[in-house]
Amino acid sequence: MKMNVNAIEVRGLTKKYGHRVAVEDLSFAVPYGSIVGLLGPNGAGKSTTLRTIVGLLAPTSGESLIDGAPFSALDNPASHVGVHMDGFGFEGGITARRHLEIARLAAGAPRGRAEEVLDEVGLAADARRRVRTFSTGMAQRLGLAAALIGSPRTLILDEPANGLDPDGIRWLRRFLRDYARRGGTVLIASHQLSELEQVVDQVVVIKRRALFAGRLEDLVTSDADSLESKYFDLVEGASA
Ligand SMILES: Nc1ncnc2c1ncn2[C@@H]1O[C@H](COP(=O)(O)OP(=O)(O)OP(=O)(O)O)[C@@H](O)[C@H]1O
Ligand SMILES: [Mg+2]
Repeated sequence: MKMNVNAIEVRGLTKKYGHRVAVEDLSFAVPYGSIVGLLGPNGAGKSTTLRTIVGLLAPTSGESLIDGAPFSALDNPASHVGVHMDGFGFEGGITARRHLEIARLAAGAPRGRAEEVLDEVGLAADARRRVRTFSTGMAQRLGLAAALIGSPRTLILDEPANGLDPDGIRWLRRFLRDYARRGGTVLIASHQLSELEQVVDQVVVIKRRALFAGRLEDLVTSDADSLESKYFDLVEGASA
């Protein structure tokens, strides 16, 4: 088998909804062990890109690979990639533990894994509560727990910090760093630029097309710069 240094590869991805071009000729790679931030204004195509990578949407053209294969060709996908995004909805009437137990069975993960991920995301004390009683931040943690259930090497997260309180945001930052330190890979879409700047190794800035894809230090080159100022330079300079 060919050695592969990238957990995720997106190659010439284009996605149209009818006549609307949501993503156009987008290419980037996410190396193993790195945290890559996917940035762009509302409607830039971030969620479309992530959904296409995990097989929820078919690309109009181009392709994306996880561990060298299209998502649909992965054997036991939950062991390759954990996905957390809006619209994955929870069945409100069941408990957090039950939700994770269902995810565990679907992923073919070992008995006891639900307890482990509840612990990992700090929800152990809430395991018996019904999901509909969860706050936004608790629901985010539950979504992350479900993404972790198959012990994947890669996480794909769409705005996981939305609704988290400052403590939750700090917790997420530490969690992501620790996950990457243990060899995990993360592709994360977020609007929280100063927060992202603290955790990402690389950034992909898009506005339908890629405006920048590369190392954070190649974008934010001096102490006087910030990810936010560079982001505005890129996005405001781009045609709609
Ligand atoms: N199911 C859909 N049908 C038609 N158009 C869609 C659909 N989903 C997204 N779009 C359009 O595709 C474009 C990209 O949307 P997308 O949700 O990928 O953006 P985003 O970068 O995730 O934005 P946000 O920051 O608001 O989450 C937008 O113009 C949006 O209106
Ligand atoms: Mg989105």
